[in-house]
Amino acid sequence: MFEPILNRLKAAKKIVFVTGAGMSQESGIPTFRGRDGLWRNYDPMKIATIDAFYENPKLVWEWYEDRRKNIIAAQPNLGHRAIAELERCKEVVVLTQNIDGLHQRAGSTKVLELHGSIIRIKCTVCSFQDHIVSSFDKLPPLCKCGKILRPDVVWFGEPLPQDVWGEAISYANSCDIMIIAGTSLLVSPANTLPLYAKQNIAALVEINPEDTVMSVDMDLTIRGTSSNIIPKLTEMISKLN
Ligand code: OAD
Ligand code: ZN
Repeated sequence: MFEPILNRLKAAKKIVFVTGAGMSQESGIPTFRGRDGLWRNYDPMKIATIDAFYENPKLVWEWYEDRRKNIIAAQPNLGHRAIAELERCKEVVVLTQNIDGLHQRAGSTKVLELHGSIIRIKCTVCSFQDHIVSSFDKLPPLCKCGKILRPDVVWFGEPLPQDVWGEAISYANSCDIMIIAGTSLLVSPANTLPLYAKQNIAALVEINPEDTVMSVDMDLTIRGTSSNIIPKLTEMISKLN
């Protein structure tokens, strides 16, 4: 399965994973654009923009509270765990669009959350921010300063946290292999990361049960799910060392 890039896997020092919702699908967290994807049933413009939030913070919060409960109860899957274990033999960085924290819970130590975190809550006005896993009694929850709290996630139309994005580009720019798992690569700017890796002549590997808009640009595409394929790939990489 990995023959075309075996030599490159063996020589690789720095491996970057770019992950999306499909990475956590087998942990019971729905994707956005798949068959039972969230954006098939919900209009993101009504629940994932700052305007929608100020228009109806209770509604947006109820949606996020449901997702938070599901995510907090979910467990990392074999794919997340395999990525974490690969740190034993390679320099590994995870650039994730996911807000679920499952890479960190699986043990990955270098995870850059491009779209924020659903566990982190911040004030819409003051600098308060905290990790909160319990549910809120009253929605929307209020900060000590009296203003509304919000999930620390990136909504449509909002920029990515610039420090995180800058760091992500530099990791993408300097990796030897980029493994892209469980993302449709339809959302910018995260979908430009493979282009930065290409500038460093990195090998691009895609793991996804379906074709994506960038499948043709990959050095290797593997059609399968992340919890099935990633452990096989990381086992192969470990054996080559
Ligand atoms: P999408 O829902 O757009 O794409 C999920 C991808 O995962 C698809 O290509 C599926 O084929 C693939 N997939 C499904 N199950 C899989 C599995 N078990 N193993 C591997 N792959 C699987 O999700 P993202 O690309 O992550 O942004 O979406 C990007 C961003 O769009 C999200 O971060 C979110 C959303 O709007 C914000 O909320 C800012
Ligand atoms: Zn505040």
